[in-house]
Amino acid sequence: MKKHLLPGLAVFSWLAGGLAACYKPAAYSSLNTRITAVSVDKSLAQIDRGRYLFNHVAACADCHSRRDYTKLAGPIITGTHGAGGEKFGKNMGLPGTFYGKNLTPAALRDWTDMELFMAITTGASKSGKPLFPMMPYLNYANMDEQDVNAIIAYLRTLEPVENKVPESKPNFVGKMASKLVPHKARLQPMPDTHNSEAYGRYLVTIAGCADCHTQRTMGMMVKKAAFAGGTSMKMAGGTLRSANLTPDNETGIGRWSKQDFINRFKTFNPKTYQAPDTQNGFNTMMPWTLYAGMSEQDLGAIYDYLRTVKPKRHKVERFTAKR
Ligand code: HEC
Ligand code: HEC
Repeated sequence: MKKHLLPGLAVFSWLAGGLAACYKPAAYSSLNTRITAVSVDKSLAQIDRGRYLFNHVAACADCHSRRDYTKLAGPIITGTHGAGGEKFGKNMGLPGTFYGKNLTPAALRDWTDMELFMAITTGASKSGKPLFPMMPYLNYANMDEQDVNAIIAYLRTLEPVENKVPESKPNFVGKMASKLVPHKARLQPMPDTHNSEAYGRYLVTIAGCADCHTQRTMGMMVKKAAFAGGTSMKMAGGTLRSANLTPDNETGIGRWSKQDFINRFKTFNPKTYQAPDTQNGFNTMMPWTLYAGMSEQDLGAIYDYLRTVKPKRHKVERFTAKR
């Protein structure tokens, strides 16, 4: 989950200076001059693409399902897929209490495709309220329009689960964050898949790898620390830190071959992986079981892109158990 990544207070006061309320629920079309209508093709191919993105790349299922963190990498609890209810609270350093929402037709039946499109890419909810930016619409704002449509097509096919999810309760800072973080879609066409680097960058963006693997100061990602890891997350058994993904030979993935990289994910292959109980308190928020369902080609493209980021020597202690 990307829950620790919340932009800090400083950003908000900075934003508050210049921007009053950039969020205008009625002004969808002025926020998104390119999108005036959404037409979602519900073909099987489109639904399949949506299933893939929802479960393995954009990893919507990561936050919108209940998770069992007594087991390694927190497998999704059966019957909760896409149905929401996972709580992200103050103990995670969030400004309030937030819940992954129910995205199954039991909850979203009354939402139009346009309303879903806006929520996913601009964080403007049907209710008129802005969504808290833990919902990674800032990443999804960069998706290809067809990929957003595919996700919407797939959402309509989810098993309806009647699950009434409590309202999120942002505190003052949380409310400010939801209002003042820019809500603007910058949709871009998906790069040619043969251009592995550009395509890999697209996947890394919508998968939100930087959200966890780039440290922030005062809510802003530190450019010089791009993908160098070390973001810490409080877990039940201790403190977890994200890994260095830059191509540094000593502390990053510099010595990893493309196959090493792909294999690291494929040990969690959702078709075969049986999550063991956690041991010595270690558990991880890295959504291994979701990303592991990516194709080898896509994981390979991610690797190719990561090889192009600036190597950064930064040794990370992955886990410190509670004493
Ligand atoms: C990192 C966690 C996370 C991921 C990944 C994520 N979401 Fe969310 N989403 C949330 C949270 C938390 C909320 C509730 C925010 C709030 O209450 O302000 C939310 C809210 C929503 C809503 C609004 C629902 C409502 O009832 O108001 C929609 C629609 C949604 N998400 C769709 C998606 C889709 C589609 C994806 C994948 C493309 C996705 N989300 C990925 C955390 C996430
Ligand atoms: C919710 C936070 C989160 C997100 C999102 C995330 N990671 Fe991670 N990742 C971690 C953490 C924490 C670790 C260290 C613990 C572990 O190895 O499981 C890690 C470890 C890794 C490792 C292992 C590195 C090593 O030295 O063993 C790789 C590779 C990796 N992540 C790649 C990625 C890629 C690629 C993405 C995007 C597709 C991504 N991560 C997204 C949190 C995250």
